[in-house]
Amino acid sequence: MALDERRVAFIGAGHITKIILDNLVKTKKLPSHRLIASDPEKTKLQQLSDKYKIIMANDNVEAVDKGDFVFVNVPPQVVGDVIDELSLKGFPNDTLIITLAAGIPIKAYERLGDNIPVARALPNPPSQIGMGIAALAFNPDVTDEQKSDIFELFAALGEYVVLREENINTVMALSSPVTTYLFFQSLIDAGIRAGIDRETSTKVVYQTIVGAMEIWNQRQISPHELLSEASTPGGISVESIFTLEKYAFRAALNEAINTAVLKAENLGDKVQKT
Ligand SMILES: NC(=O)c1ccc[n+]([C@@H]2O[C@H](COP(=O)([O-])OP(=O)(O)OC[C@H]3O[C@@H](n4cnc5c(N)ncnc54)[C@H](OP(=O)(O)O)[C@@H]3O)[C@@H](O)[C@H]2O)c1
Repeated sequence: MALDERRVAFIGAGHITKIILDNLVKTKKLPSHRLIASDPEKTKLQQLSDKYKIIMANDNVEAVDKGDFVFVNVPPQVVGDVIDELSLKGFPNDTLIITLAAGIPIKAYERLGDNIPVARALPNPPSQIGMGIAALAFNPDVTDEQKSDIFELFAALGEYVVLREENINTVMALSSPVTTYLFFQSLIDAGIRAGIDRETSTKVVYQTIVGAMEIWNQRQISPHELLSEASTPGGISVESIFTLEKYAFRAALNEAINTAVLKAENLGDKVQKT
């Protein structure tokens, strides 16, 4: 079955559902009459329906009945209740769950029945503009055909990587834009400190980051080689690299990612115990 023949339901009509709908509709991946959503807050559903012409389900069970793929886009603390609700009627085992709830593992859905295909996904904030990167993990019950449709679906939000579920938190930490924003802000501030105005510094730093990334994109060589090419012996760039190493730039980034992964694992453990 091709993606545009699937019916995709969303349990929870909050921020991430809106982002996914927005991209699916913009990229024309699915006609709106194949998109369904449920949410206890009917005004939210109505707003989504007015904007994207999707079908409003009366409740979560109806959303599951109408969908081939079912996104679980509710807050992590509510996932247990949703699973209880869906298991009451018996969950169809040809319906695929795509869970976005942070910290909730695939195995939490085993309660729905045997051999239910479950995909876990974690898109990052630039998905809002179709330039995201999503981490995807699957249980063994997801078929190749379903995977191929999920890839097409997430391509509407940007790029994706497929990995083992235990690595989802690492992608979450790496794909958070905060490190990049802090790097951006710090370089702008350094330009101001060295004597240029904020606007000029921002323009210079922005174009340098975008240009440097585009060179990597076009040449696909390792950053190590690019660093080496940019480093004239005894020149200015090696001085900058030496100073950054002296102030533990690399170690600081490593620790930032490491502590974010640990924090996400802790939060996940807490949510599962509640
Ligand atoms: N936002 C993101 O960029 C992002 C990215 C990756 C993953 N996620 C994950 O996606 C999930 C949703 O995030 P969000 O940002 O969209 O949150 P959100 O804006 O708070 O949306 C969650 C929605 O779920 C609804 N809901 C609550 N209980 C429900 C139930 N029993 N049945 C059906 N719907 C119910 C909420 O309704 P009420 O407001 O009426 O309670 C709300 O509309 C979270 O688990 C989050 O970790 C989000």
